[in-house]
Amino acid sequence: MKKHIFRKKPISDLLSKEEDQNSLKRTIGPLNLIILGLGCILGAGIFIVTGVVSAQYSGPGLVLSFVVSAVACIFTALCYAEFASMIPISGSVYTYTYVAMGEIWAWMIGWVLMYEYLISASAVAVGWSAYIMELANSAGIHFPQILTLPPGMGLINLPAVLIILLLTGILIRGVKESTRFNAIIVTVNVAIIILFILVGLNHINPVNYHPFAPYGWSGILQGAAIVFFAYIGFDAVSTAAEETKNPQRTMPIGIIGSLVISSILYIAVAAVLNGMVPYTSLNTSSPVTFALNSAHVYWAASIVSFGAIFGLTSVLLTSLFGQTRIFFSMSRDGLLPSSFSKLHPEHKSPVVSILIVGIIASLIAGFLPLNTIIELVNIGTLSAFIFLAISIIILRIREPDLPRKFKCPLVPVIPVLSIVFCGFLITQLSHTTLERFSISLIIGLAVYVAYGMKNSKLQNQLYENIENTFSINLKIKSQVKALLKNIRGSKRY
Ligand code: ALA
Repeated sequence: MKKHIFRKKPISDLLSKEEDQNSLKRTIGPLNLIILGLGCILGAGIFIVTGVVSAQYSGPGLVLSFVVSAVACIFTALCYAEFASMIPISGSVYTYTYVAMGEIWAWMIGWVLMYEYLISASAVAVGWSAYIMELANSAGIHFPQILTLPPGMGLINLPAVLIILLLTGILIRGVKESTRFNAIIVTVNVAIIILFILVGLNHINPVNYHPFAPYGWSGILQGAAIVFFAYIGFDAVSTAAEETKNPQRTMPIGIIGSLVISSILYIAVAAVLNGMVPYTSLNTSSPVTFALNSAHVYWAASIVSFGAIFGLTSVLLTSLFGQTRIFFSMSRDGLLPSSFSKLHPEHKSPVVSILIVGIIASLIAGFLPLNTIIELVNIGTLSAFIFLAISIIILRIREPDLPRKFKCPLVPVIPVLSIVFCGFLITQLSHTTLERFSISLIIGLAVYVAYGMKNSKLQNQLYENIENTFSINLKIKSQVKALLKNIRGSKRY
């Protein structure tokens, strides 16, 4: 059995899936892919997490936290781009691990990716709800806390639940409609971030940059492990590989392009934010609006609030999208029930996957608080990135001649750097997070043993092959017997 659970998916099988009837429609080009990436990247990380990290960990050194995190992501993005150009199939690092390291690892990655997509969607929805409430409060509309906060502080975070359900409906209508909707949101969002940078530049007080690293290097590095959340999403681009036109060229452009653009925006926002107000005052869930209000630029504060809501909406949409595509791939491999990969007859979207993701994400968003979730999202994502880098090295050794339209430079140096940086960021997260994550891995393994291992198409294919070989052997044996009988018979004659 040991050998079977490590069985690897042949790349040729994957590439022939492109022709499969159950494949998704190819509608996404390079620009839409970058937009898809930005839609998933720019969100709660920049609009919510930034302030708290500056106040509690990095101080004005937040800029460096963003740089460290960006470096880890760039190494990983280069690995992603090679895989996505080589195996342009839905499923992201899950699919890549299936090819390079075998089924059990792929399953565990699929499990871990739920943190990155599904649980992070819930976190973003909670952030969305906070911004909406702030906007409503500033307009003099006050909602009862019991309906806007999770148990402990209220009863249910209803706005977070409603936004997820609304986006679930949009996703069911199909990817073309979703990417168009996403493009509008991303354009507004980027414009508003640039507005903040330009307005903020005129209100910088250099005194605010001192002390630059109030909690020392350890603060900056811990900060890097948390703001890593802000970069999550560039890899979501790879989950759309199966719906992308000319994926070998388009995927690297989408992944690296969206990461570079967001890194530049983040570093600029961090520099401006910490120049506008003292880091000690940034312990707030809406730091960007807070800085503009402190500088008395109220018109910009209102516009940026709206922008934040747009940004959070698009992150939510693309996170939900990414998760449904991973479920889709896992189900197609038999590791999840086949209903997960059933397409809507008219819209061609994986409707059951979308509904399940929407319901689970809205339950988490409705009933859990934000802060504990973010660290879990980060540890799950960082682990997936490490597996991705290992897979790149393995496949370069195992399949050196496979066509790669985009090659990650300096292999194995870049993948090893990706492993080192991501591993280091994991060590900067809290012990509680590490414990919770370990427990979740055990649960994931149990689900694999109970369902995936038995229903895996690859496993069943393997057994069929063994049975076929066995029955062929039996046939040959009986034919040989008959032949021998004949020969003996003829000799007797
Ligand atoms: N990068 C995404 C965000 O910041 C997860 O919301």
